[in-house]
This record gives sequence, structure tokens and C-alpha cells, in this order.
Amino acid sequence: MLSAASKGYDDDRASINLPYDKDMLSKVRQAVEDKSQLNPEYLIVIGIGGSNLGTMAVQEAVLGKFYNQLDPNVKVLYADTVDSDLVNAIVKMVEPTLERDCNIILNVVSKSGTTTETAANLEVIIDSLRRHRKEYGNYVVVTTDEDSKLWNLALKEGFSVLKIPKKVGGRYSVFSPVGLFPLGLLGIDIERLLDGARSMRDACINVDIEQNLAALGAAIQYQHYKSGKNITDLFLFSNDLESVGKWCRQLIAESLGKEFNKKGERLNVGVTPTVSIGSTDLHSMAQLYLGGPYDKFTTFVRVENNSSQINVPRLEGYSELVSGIQGRSLKDIMDAILEGAKRAFRKGGRPFFEITLPDKSEHSIGQFLQFKMIETIYLAYLLDVNPFDQPNVESYKRETRKILARKKKH
Ligand code: PA5
Repeated sequence: MLSAASKGYDDDRASINLPYDKDMLSKVRQAVEDKSQLNPEYLIVIGIGGSNLGTMAVQEAVLGKFYNQLDPNVKVLYADTVDSDLVNAIVKMVEPTLERDCNIILNVVSKSGTTTETAANLEVIIDSLRRHRKEYGNYVVVTTDEDSKLWNLALKEGFSVLKIPKKVGGRYSVFSPVGLFPLGLLGIDIERLLDGARSMRDACINVDIEQNLAALGAAIQYQHYKSGKNITDLFLFSNDLESVGKWCRQLIAESLGKEFNKKGERLNVGVTPTVSIGSTDLHSMAQLYLGGPYDKFTTFVRVENNSSQINVPRLEGYSELVSGIQGRSLKDIMDAILEGAKRAFRKGGRPFFEITLPDKSEHSIGQFLQFKMIETIYLAYLLDVNPFDQPNVESYKRETRKILARKKKH
């Protein structure tokens, strides 16, 4: 990994160098500044998989799941799948804004520029924008590979374009313009995010494995995988981290789930990632986790400092419901529940490790995402698979395009 650090973007591991790319950052900041001047009420991110999961993860972790309801300057909506009710709801939400002569920004994100869902949603949403704005091109930012079909369309239409480095794949792209532009437009401190990523990257390319958290994490999980733990559960004790879990799920599934090893020999290997939310899923999944097959390894994630503190009041007549909770903070109660879960896991011989994030700031989330990306790359090497391709995802995309092209002719 150390050698990749000096190779810029000329290496499959290029994503580890994104947090150091000052030129890219200044282009993103310029685009954020330009589009902020339009005072948008809505940002609509059109993209799927690696093209929107990182943005969602950071947005929800840093700004909270209820961000849109808390009346922010710029609300955010995600158009990923081609669900007509989802897309219809998005169009219905933003049309009053356009009718009031207020603005929206579309950020169309697709590395390949040829993803069916993204192309379809783009056409539907831009059609609505065009009906309301003659100069609709001013409101669109496209993030894609240079020279993709989408890139060329964007230039023809006069949209702003941001480039994704060629060797940076979707699930490793959160620190590229894919994540940085929309997050910057929402007011997230992208420099702090990259700062966190940089500090973790430096720690995780250390050749001294005992000082290298990602290598240690990968080695521990590999040992457990070898002894039959082929499910890895990320158990997040923070509601706002659910999308971080979904981002991790894609990272692990697409990077490790492979038909062939690097020599082309059939392996059909993979670790199945699951996501649980504490304490909610203790009331849903814990029976399986503690009573079911010994096929799981768990990573508990807790947050040391939340942005708010709430204490359970001392209401008269309520103290008998559950003793010991009155006057305590919800955080203390959550910690006690996590401690209880860990004890039960220990007693049941269910392996786990625990990660504590200091908070959900940009810096901490940047660190965590970078840690997971490098840990996954190390785990792929131990499993002898290529963490950067996704041939089977590509095969479904090709088949879909064939079906749609055929149907059109009839
Ligand atoms: O990680 C990946 O490569 C995939 O999940 C892609 O991000 C996803 O399929 C979307 O592809 P694209 O960005 O080319 O539209």
C-alpha cells in the first residue's frame, strides 16, 4: 500500500491519494461557490450505488437523518432507482420551488455515464427543469469520467462538469468530486472530511502492522472468515450512521464477492455484509445473532459524543417502569445497552470488535470511511481477489441494456 501512495492516480489503489489532491479540491470548491450563488433550495443527486451512497453516508452522519425537516438552506433529495413513485415525489417536491422562481441544482453522478437508472432519472427530472427554466444548463453539474457519453452530453448542453479520476471506482470515490461537490454544496466542511481521511490513510499504509488499524482489522476478520464466519455485521449504535452502514455494505460486497481469484481460478469467495442499528436491531436480530449459527463476525461502532444531550426527567409516578433510568442521559443508557450486548456476545462465544468514533464530525467520518476502504483492500488481498472490479455488476447492466434496446424495436 505504501508504494501506491507515491503513484498518484496511476494505480488501482488511486483512491488513497484523493485526500491529497489540492487541484481537485479547488475545482470542487469553485463549483460549490458558483452554484451556491444561485441560492438553491434543493440539491437533487441523480446517481446510484457508488455514485450516491458515500454522499448519503456523510450527509446523514454529519447533518443528521432529519436534515431536510430541520429547514436547512439547501435540502437534498436522492434519485437513485427508477421507482416512479420515488421520482414522482421528487418532481412534485421541487416543482413549487421552480414555480416560485427559486432554484434547484441537479448533480448527475455516473462514473461510466451509461447507467440505465441514472440516465432515465436524468431525463425525467431535466424535462421538468427545462419546462421552468430557459437557461436550464446553469443548474446542472455532471460528475463523470472524462470522455464518457455523459461527459460529452454535458459539454454539448453547457452543464458544469467535474472529472472522476479514471482509476477511482464508484465505491472508492467518496473523496473525489462524486462526494465532495454535493457535500460541499450542503455546507459540509469538506476540508475537515479530507483531513480526517488523510490522517487515517497515513496510519493505514504503515508497514508496521501493529500500528496499522486497517491491516489489523483485515487480519482479524480473515482469521474469523477462515473459521467459518462468512458474515460480517456492522452494528452501529447511532441512528445517523445507518447510511454509513449501507455504504460499507456495498464496499465489502462488491470488493470481496468474486467469482475468480487474481489468477483467473474459480473461487466464488465473499464475505456477506449486514448492517444493524443499535439498539433497534437488538429487538429484531439479536436472537439470531446470539442463538443462530456461528457464522458471523460483528463490528460494534459507538459514538463517544453526540451533538445533543437529553436526560430522562424524574417524572413522578414513572420511576417504577424501569429502575435506574431517571436522571440518566440517553447516552448513558445506550452505552449500558451496548455493554449488555457485548457481555452477551462474549458469553455466547460470538466474536466481535469495537470501534469508538469520537463524534460524527466531518473529521471522524472521514477517518472511518478511509479506514473501511483500506481495510477492505487488505482483506481482498488476503482473500486473493481484486477489490476494484465488479464484473458481475457489469454483466447485469449489459443484459438490462440489451433487453431495453430489444423492446424499443417492437
Ligand atoms: O461501485 C460501483 O462500481 C457501482 O456500484 C457503481 O457505482 C454503480 O453501478 C453506478 O455506476 P455509475 O457510477 O457508472 O453510474
